[in-house]
Amino acid sequence: IAACVLTALAGYLLGSILFGVLVSKTMFNEDVRTHGSGNAGMTNVLRTYGKLPAVLTIIGDVGKSVAAASLGRLLFASLIGTDALLAPVCGAYLAAIFCMIGHSRPLYFGFKGGKCVLVGAGAALSISPIVCGILLLVFLIQFAFSRIVSLGSIMVAALFPVVTLIYWVVCGVNVPTVIFNTLCCVIMATMVIWLHRSNIERLKNGTEYRFGSQK
Ligand code: G3P
Repeated sequence: IAACVLTALAGYLLGSILFGVLVSKTMFNEDVRTHGSGNAGMTNVLRTYGKLPAVLTIIGDVGKSVAAASLGRLLFASLIGTDALLAPVCGAYLAAIFCMIGHSRPLYFGFKGGKCVLVGAGAALSISPIVCGILLLVFLIQFAFSRIVSLGSIMVAALFPVVTLIYWVVCGVNVPTVIFNTLCCVIMATMVIWLHRSNIERLKNGTEYRFGSQK
């Protein structure tokens, strides 16, 4: 229980650091959430301020998620042990969920945050780079055709639990670990899709922002 509570807390506190807002405040003395979609994430930073601030946001948001996942893995390994029912990697998934909660409802930024796509990407990168690579490829192919970031985010979120399940089954880890990890990904995917509900509305209406178009 101590391992779970500490992992959750560390994930939430790390997730609450919004790099999109920090970058916009430091470089432009304003809050990115007052622009564009009102989101604190990389996409809105990119459309509002351009490439360099967006890259800095990617580094920060992915980095905090990698840090949270690594910490969760370490905490589970040291407090629960490596031959327990749940593998240390389960700690990484738990930390990732709470990092997402922090990112979407940040303690230090008035509980108004981002849509957690980069946080999910960071977790996937740190836990299973192969899964991350497959999802990135799907995202890039989708983006090349549509130029709509949110559509790719939603597609990749929906695929995340499926690819994760296949990955852990192929890796041959024990059944409780496969179930736990997949369940965590279902929770993360549901969160990401739910956070994109305004985007889903715009996609349905045909009014979603497309990079490279005037709209
Ligand atoms: O990563 C968030 C992206 O999928 C959508 O962002 O600003 O277009 O709502 P935004």
